[in-house]
Amino acid sequence: MILVNVDDELVLRAIELQDSEKIFAIIDTSREYLREWLPWVDGTKNLKNSELFIEGCLKRIMENKGLTAVILYRNEIVGIAGFNEINWSNKTAYIGYWLDGAFQGMGIMSRVAKALTNYGLNQLGLNKIEIRAAVQNYKSRSIPERLSFKQEGIIRQAEWLYDHYADLVVYGMLAEEWNK
Ligand SMILES: CC(C)(COP(=O)(O)OP(=O)(O)OC[C@H]1O[C@@H](n2cnc3c(N)ncnc32)[C@H](O)[C@@H]1OP(=O)(O)O)[C@@H](O)C(=O)NCCC(=O)NCCS
Repeated sequence: MILVNVDDELVLRAIELQDSEKIFAIIDTSREYLREWLPWVDGTKNLKNSELFIEGCLKRIMENKGLTAVILYRNEIVGIAGFNEINWSNKTAYIGYWLDGAFQGMGIMSRVAKALTNYGLNQLGLNKIEIRAAVQNYKSRSIPERLSFKQEGIIRQAEWLYDHYADLVVYGMLAEEWNK
């Protein structure tokens, strides 16, 4: 199911079980680059792990508690983005994303994050979108900053990354700010 046509190069499509081979292949060839900031890379050892990940995503989609999409760049899967969690009580969604290393620096995630924010606030009727990134993950932080998200604070030692804790910066965008 296509969620968002971002532009003439980029589409967000709801993740499917048949994406597991491509997703695992990207992770398997980009381990060093991805594991710097993502805690689940070492635990993704084989195709079965990626299938289990996707089954978890599908369950959250069915329960309306999350929305994970593959990023199609010129019809090719190049990464994942979506709402890791949607909290309907607070009308807040938490964006997560990662990209195949070979497709970095082309504005893909900036365009995707903008489209996802718009989708969450204007199509789903949410009030707030959050993005969290490690303090030293400047590439990731530049994405909400480019979209004028407000930096709301730093959660200390919020994420265990294999051999150390990372402090996470929280960025937020409110519906009233986005649509003005
Ligand atoms: C962080 C990450 C998602 C960034 O994705 P990306 O698509 O490379 O980011 P973007 O290309 O949108 O970043 C914008 C850069 O592209 C450039 N760019 C090119 N075309 C652009 C366009 N049309 N629109 C916006 N920016 C554009 C910008 O100038 C900017 O360059 P700069 O970083 O040198 O200033 C990616 O590096 C990644 O997956 N990293 C590993 C995992 C990770 O850290 N995930 C996030 C955890 S919080």
